[in-house]
Amino acid sequence: MSIQSETAAAAAPARLREIDELPAPPGLPFVGNLLQVDRARIHQQVERWVHEYGPYFRFQLGSRRILAIADHATMGALLRDRPDGFRRTKRLAEISAEIGSAVGVFGAEGEAWKRQRRMVMAGFDPRHLRAYFPSLVAVSERLGGRWGRAADAGAAIDLQADLMRYTVDTVAGLAFGAEVNTLESDADVIQQHLDKIFPALFRRMFAALPTWRWWKSPADRELDRSVAAVGAAIQGFVAAARARLEDPARRAAPKNLLEAMIVAADDPQSGITPSEVHGNVLTMLLAGEDTTANSLAWAIWLLFSHPECLARARAEIDERAGDPAAWTIDDFAKLDYVEACANETLRLRPVVPFLMLQALRETSVAGIRIPVDTLIWGALRSDSLREEFFEEATLFRPERWLGADVAHGATSANRVAMPFGAGPRVCPGRHLAMLEIKMALAVLLGRFEIVDVAARSGGEPLEELSFTMSPEPLTLRLRRRR
Ligand code: HEM
Repeated sequence: MSIQSETAAAAAPARLREIDELPAPPGLPFVGNLLQVDRARIHQQVERWVHEYGPYFRFQLGSRRILAIADHATMGALLRDRPDGFRRTKRLAEISAEIGSAVGVFGAEGEAWKRQRRMVMAGFDPRHLRAYFPSLVAVSERLGGRWGRAADAGAAIDLQADLMRYTVDTVAGLAFGAEVNTLESDADVIQQHLDKIFPALFRRMFAALPTWRWWKSPADRELDRSVAAVGAAIQGFVAAARARLEDPARRAAPKNLLEAMIVAADDPQSGITPSEVHGNVLTMLLAGEDTTANSLAWAIWLLFSHPECLARARAEIDERAGDPAAWTIDDFAKLDYVEACANETLRLRPVVPFLMLQALRETSVAGIRIPVDTLIWGALRSDSLREEFFEEATLFRPERWLGADVAHGATSANRVAMPFGAGPRVCPGRHLAMLEIKMALAVLLGRFEIVDVAARSGGEPLEELSFTMSPEPLTLRLRRRR
């Protein structure tokens, strides 16, 4: 079986090219290109190589040879050929297992993934979101309350930290039925431990040597402590859900993903195991926290640095009479310009700027032979920044997502940008994420003037990769409007 993009198919030579015949940035013996890349900005290095070598090339990180693909159509086809043709990398699975993380839907493969995916999709479907909407409003109110107190005190807000409280409170409520309310707490919160896990996974993914297998550095020991603390919190969520399921009516109609998974795990025929329940609670916390919080942080920075766009987004929010706390879910659906701002943010500053895959069977891609186990780096942002696909591609222009044929335009543009991935493993949290982004922006722009958004380095925020791509830490200052 082979995968060809439309453009690549026309140009495909009769004989398949070997990966070793592709252009490659010059590297050193043994380490390859490892010393040329700064781990925190490796995605930008690969994007520079795309400019130099084109949409298909190879690079080498230590002993690992990687095929880079920047053509969105080809990459989309690969993403759709899952779970049978391609998987997430074996290294990610090994490293996750080593830190003691049970496997959830993000890391699962084959039949286990299919079983878990079905349950996760049901937990995040639009009907469920609608039922949970009043709780979402309560969480966004708490974010507004926290920011109101900071505005009154003239205090600087650690933007990402507050947004992560918002996203974790939301996911815990929606997926586990738990009211963690970290937005109104200044105690030791679960986020402080979650924050250690992604960077550690990412560090180990790209480490030249697995030093943690030989001795534990202070960072490795801190990671162990954080994994244990998150594990204890997860056991708490599971115990509370089990207590609610003592009620036979609740057991017959579980109200959230965690309850549905526990009921399934209690039935030996279901194939869902207690370890998968644990793995999916961790997955939802990790996948739902950083991604949405950092996308919001990028959106707030981009709006602050484009006052005309901010004014238009605010006008749309003000147009809907009253405070966002009284809106319905359908009111949020009508915020077309705010949604366009979110789409434009995800295009320019995708928090997942690349996806790695590994081939499960021999195939060919755009005339290149792909042996089993080939590692593929999908440079997802490259085409999003090309004039061929987006006019004035490097500029923040939310209007490009509007127009007479909005739905169609947005769909085809998102086929290029793919901020939520594509195919059967496309992000199941995307509807929730968009709603969370709109609700937080409605609270922010509706109630406050943004006095300042400042990056640590003083200018445009640097992109920092640690599994997801975040802006460097941002400080927000607000003044009340009403
Ligand atoms: C703006 C916010 C978000 C972005 C940009 C984002 C992006 C992504 C991307 C790129 C993937 C990989 C898709 C693929 O392999 O094709 C993914 C997977 C996933 N995301 Fe999200 N995500 C976001 C929010 C969320 C939220 C809020 C949740 C849930 C609470 C979530 C849960 C997941 C899960 C469970 C997967 C794994 C799906 C699978 O492997 O079947 N994400 N996300």
